[in-house]
Amino acid sequence: MQLLINGALHDVDVSAEMPLLWVLRDVLGMTGTKFGCGMSLCGACTVHLDGRPIRSCTTPVSAATGKAITTIEGLDAEGDHPVQRAWQELNVPQCGYCQSGQLMSAAALLETTPHPTDADIDAAMEGNICRCGTYVRIRKAIKRAADIKAGGGR
Ligand code: FES
Ligand code: FES
Repeated sequence: MQLLINGALHDVDVSAEMPLLWVLRDVLGMTGTKFGCGMSLCGACTVHLDGRPIRSCTTPVSAATGKAITTIEGLDAEGDHPVQRAWQELNVPQCGYCQSGQLMSAAALLETTPHPTDADIDAAMEGNICRCGTYVRIRKAIKRAADIKAGGGR
């Protein structure tokens, strides 16, 4: 089947039921998206499907055909998306394992809610677990990213 990932078409010879996460990591070698729980419980595997955040560990690859898939590798060609800039500025990651999923959820939130409140952030990010407890910095960074996106960058 054919997949549109980060603007490029990829032909993959896999079963329709294979989780999208497996295809991204094991077949295509795109390892920025992480495996955490495999059960839609942690958010480490979050990617965008037509701009909406989804858990790729429980999404069969067949559900992603004909849609635009965006992974952390394609969020911005230069790694310069407002959330990436804000994350760097505020040194958000600790071990880093959860962070690509956090970034993808945050980026999707800012597309629908350009100036999120604490409640908006909590609602959008509650499915993204961080074992290192970086939640306070994540919240600050999302607000900073909203400012950058609105033109308040460096
Ligand atoms: S690996 Fe998909 S939600 Fe945890
Ligand atoms: S930074 Fe370590 S799990 Fe989130």
